[in-house]
Amino acid sequence: MRIGIFATADEVADQAAALIIRAHARPDFVLGVATGGTPIPLYERLRAAHSAGRFDLSHARAFALDEYIGIAADHPERYRNFLCHHLIEADEGTGLRESHLHTPDALAEDPYQAAADYDQAIRDSGGVDIQILGIGADGHIGFNEPGGSLTSRTNVGVLTARTRQDNARFFDDDLSQVPTQCVTQGLGTIMEARHLLLLATGAGKAEAVAHLVEGAVSARWPATITQMHPHTTVLVDEAAAARL
Ligand code: GLP
Repeated sequence: MRIGIFATADEVADQAAALIIRAHARPDFVLGVATGGTPIPLYERLRAAHSAGRFDLSHARAFALDEYIGIAADHPERYRNFLCHHLIEADEGTGLRESHLHTPDALAEDPYQAAADYDQAIRDSGGVDIQILGIGADGHIGFNEPGGSLTSRTNVGVLTARTRQDNARFFDDDLSQVPTQCVTQGLGTIMEARHLLLLATGAGKAEAVAHLVEGAVSARWPATITQMHPHTTVLVDEAAAARL
């Protein structure tokens, strides 16, 4: 695990963007994309690099980590819509084609089958080259909440009360609007990506980052499984690094 600590969240985004831009040389690059607030500044930089002719995802594919179940198809916080906005629509996007943006089909009648199909689609793509990850305050990655299997495949998950509360800010602070279930890549699926790039910013992540970097590998802090990956890069700001 390689750790980079930077003064500000902006510097974390700069470093993450530079790393992805350097690594995306292969035309059939497969990028694993995360949602949440943390990667938004990174996506801004990738769009700026696309405008400047330094970055282009037009031959690439992107796979999301997860998707809410029970959210309206046109809701801005539906992860497919969030990613369309940040990677395709805003500022003329990154070159990514909408048909190349893959998200779990959480609107499917059978979300368990949709989860299995999504897992297979990732494998069929040849696998993820770089997987961008955020981290929940409780140490979740994707929506793999504490206590789950460390080797799980893409599956249907239940959000914890804490995660729903943390995410209520994206739903007008109305907890009743926050979905309770999701389809998420499992930890075993995420671990198959060739490079994991985990970003954490802000004091609210300090406890999770301390476990991630210095704690024992444990299902109580799911992100700790990334310690077992041969190529994990963790980029954090000083606030998130405060308990290291
Ligand atoms: C959500 C997402 C995760 C994300 C986490 C942290 O629950 N499923 O992929 O990493 O929240 O979000 P934020 O970056 O907004 O703190």
